[in-house]
Amino acid sequence: MSKLHVTTSVNGEPVEFLCDPSASMLDALRGPLGLTGTKEGCGTGDCGACSITVDGRLVCACLMLAVESEGHEIGTIEGMAKGDHLHPLQQKFLEMAALQCGICTPGMLMASRALLEKNPNPTEEEVRFGLAGNLCRCTGYDKIVRAVLETAAEMRGAA
Ligand code: FES
Ligand code: FES
Repeated sequence: MSKLHVTTSVNGEPVEFLCDPSASMLDALRGPLGLTGTKEGCGTGDCGACSITVDGRLVCACLMLAVESEGHEIGTIEGMAKGDHLHPLQQKFLEMAALQCGICTPGMLMASRALLEKNPNPTEEEVRFGLAGNLCRCTGYDKIVRAVLETAAEMRGAA
């Protein structure tokens, strides 16, 4: 099958890659683009481990064709820290041990950032609802939810 040429932008950098017409965005990120921070949990849109942003909107990379990224701005977990400077959510997840195996963590962080960008002052219920599409088999969710709430409070204080 002949490959398709895709031109897009990932974490603010212009990129080009070749892919099969049926390749998912998750395949492209973890394959030709070499960005393995985005994880595959289920491959069927059920776990949120592959969460990325497309023009700022949260999307499951396993449900998106790679060719659909043409001309769009893709955001992945690799773009969350700025150099050595972790995003406040990443810092708080570390401080509060809001992760164990870490497979869900990139998706949790991407979904949490998307949530706080829309709603900087969420209630606990809103955080739980905002992360309802992200499954974690390890932490029991409480530490994750507390980390997001604490980060939101700190970011509001710093604003
Ligand atoms: S790997 Fe995409 S939602 Fe589970
Ligand atoms: S930390 Fe293991 S699945 Fe969430």
